[in-house]
Amino acid sequence: MFTVGILTVSDKGWSGERRDTSGEVIREILSTVDFRIVSHNIVPDDMKLIAERLVEWADKDGIDVIITTGGTGLSPRDVTPEATLSVVDRVVPGFAEAMRAESLGKTPMAMLSRAVAGTRGGCLIINLPGSPKAVRECLEPILPVLPHAVETLKGQGGECGSQE
Ligand code: MTE
Repeated sequence: MFTVGILTVSDKGWSGERRDTSGEVIREILSTVDFRIVSHNIVPDDMKLIAERLVEWADKDGIDVIITTGGTGLSPRDVTPEATLSVVDRVVPGFAEAMRAESLGKTPMAMLSRAVAGTRGGCLIINLPGSPKAVRECLEPILPVLPHAVETLKGQGGECGSQE
């Protein structure tokens, strides 16, 4: 079973002005698969704080997958993709490409998310947009790929063709 950390990035969530419904949606969706949520925190839209938490969870806690939600848009405070890119060793464009491809069929606003994904050591980090609706629309299409992604990242993957 793989471990997951959920990082909600939101000034309002962090200050207690807004409930973390997006984090709750991630929890609900992950409860349908064989992943264990080991951490769930809220940080403000602050590049340093986001990057520090990602590094701590990846390096110290050895978490397999970190899913962030929020801070991917165009507002001046949105820095989650920059924080993520500052800590990953390799970018994995396919996750963001798949999320946007699926989402554009639902709303043209999907163009506005700058979400990225990448790996840091054995940890896969994936950004999701911030709204609960967007979380559902983006996480559900990539969910079936996550186990094989983590397996291959850990060097445990079997033949790729056998996953289909
Ligand atoms: N993607 C999907 N699937 N569904 C959505 O409703 N909302 C968009 C976009 N991606 C949306 C979506 C909007 S309106 C914004 S502003 C961006 O995600 C960025 O959101 P964030 O800044 O909360 O991360």
